[in-house]
Amino acid sequence: METFEAIMNRRSIRKFTDVPIHEGRLERALRAAMNAPSAGTQLCWHFIVVVDRDVLKQIAADHKNAHMCDTAQAGVLFVADPTSERFGPFWQQDMGACVQNFLLAVHDMGLAACWTGIYPREQRVEDFRKMFDVPDEFIPMAFVPVGYPDEEKGPVDRFDEERVHIDKW
Ligand SMILES: Cc1cc2nc3c(=O)[nH]c(=O)nc-3n(C[C@H](O)[C@H](O)[C@H](O)COP(=O)(O)O)c2cc1C
Repeated sequence: METFEAIMNRRSIRKFTDVPIHEGRLERALRAAMNAPSAGTQLCWHFIVVVDRDVLKQIAADHKNAHMCDTAQAGVLFVADPTSERFGPFWQQDMGACVQNFLLAVHDMGLAACWTGIYPREQRVEDFRKMFDVPDEFIPMAFVPVGYPDEEKGPVDRFDEERVHIDKW
């Protein structure tokens, strides 16, 4: 898939089929995630890959915003490591790039996903930390359920000329 096409066609998918994810695809998406730019190449990320369907169903039951975990075949918990920061608090920006790389790689392989937010909601951070034994110094930042899409969403083009300022505000 061409890069621009992948970016323009990616959508948040919230219903997945029961087709298992082909071997190697999650690793390929994680390879893309770990190739994201990060401040000073600080690589402040960890990942917990969840393939246990009971755990995915528990996440769906506990977190309304992540209800689509109910049908997901797998999910990835993106965990930030602020202790690895080299130039101040850039971890949120690094993690955003990391999650987006993952979403685009998933889409490129014909899979689908949805970013579900954890940080900065304190209760969610605590819940995920507890559920996955994440040490206190690390921050569960987002959970991304993955599977083959069971809903169709067309591309959207959100380009807005009024948001573009040339040379000055
Ligand atoms: C930081 C962030 C947090 C999000 N959290 C959730 C969430 O908790 N649940 C959800 O269903 N979608 C969540 N989304 C997905 C957005 O709702 C979605 O990206 C937006 O509606 C645009 O749709 P699209 O991704 O199909 O282009 C989140 C997206 C981002 C970037």
